[in-house]
Amino acid sequence: MISLPRIEDGRGNLTFIEGGRHVDFSIERVYYLYDVPGGAERGGHAHKVLHQLLIAMSGSFDVVIDDGREKQRVHLNRSYNGLYICPMIWRELDNFSSGSVCMVLASEMYDETDYYRDYREFLSNADRNSSPVS
Ligand code: TYD
Repeated sequence: MISLPRIEDGRGNLTFIEGGRHVDFSIERVYYLYDVPGGAERGGHAHKVLHQLLIAMSGSFDVVIDDGREKQRVHLNRSYNGLYICPMIWRELDNFSSGSVCMVLASEMYDETDYYRDYREFLSNADRNSSPVS
């Protein structure tokens, strides 16, 4: 979890993110999930080389991260916290609150060949010697 800078102000708070400073990658793409219906699940894949930072810009949701050995459920509900996800982590997003927005900063342009969408294929390529999710 990355704590992002917060400029607190009576007029409203401000958070900023600089590529290469607050995240260890240069930001090549931004996308966001919104209007997610109650009970919906997103994700369900891993990436081969993509680095990402997920932020709950509004509302809240859960991210289940899985390195092939251990799973951890993380609740995101603050727009000044980002969940960094390195390559080769299976992720599932659920428990979206009404009106929630998930913004994702990504290190690469969209590339479907970077996805593992099959869990068994992901598992067979996950490095069994890597450190567990901490
Ligand atoms: P996907 O990554 O599977 O969404 P999620 O992980 O949120 O469930 O993408 C859903 C669709 O959107 C899929 O057809 C690919 C397309 N897409 C793009 O065209 N560009 C993008 O940057 C992203 C993230 C997805």
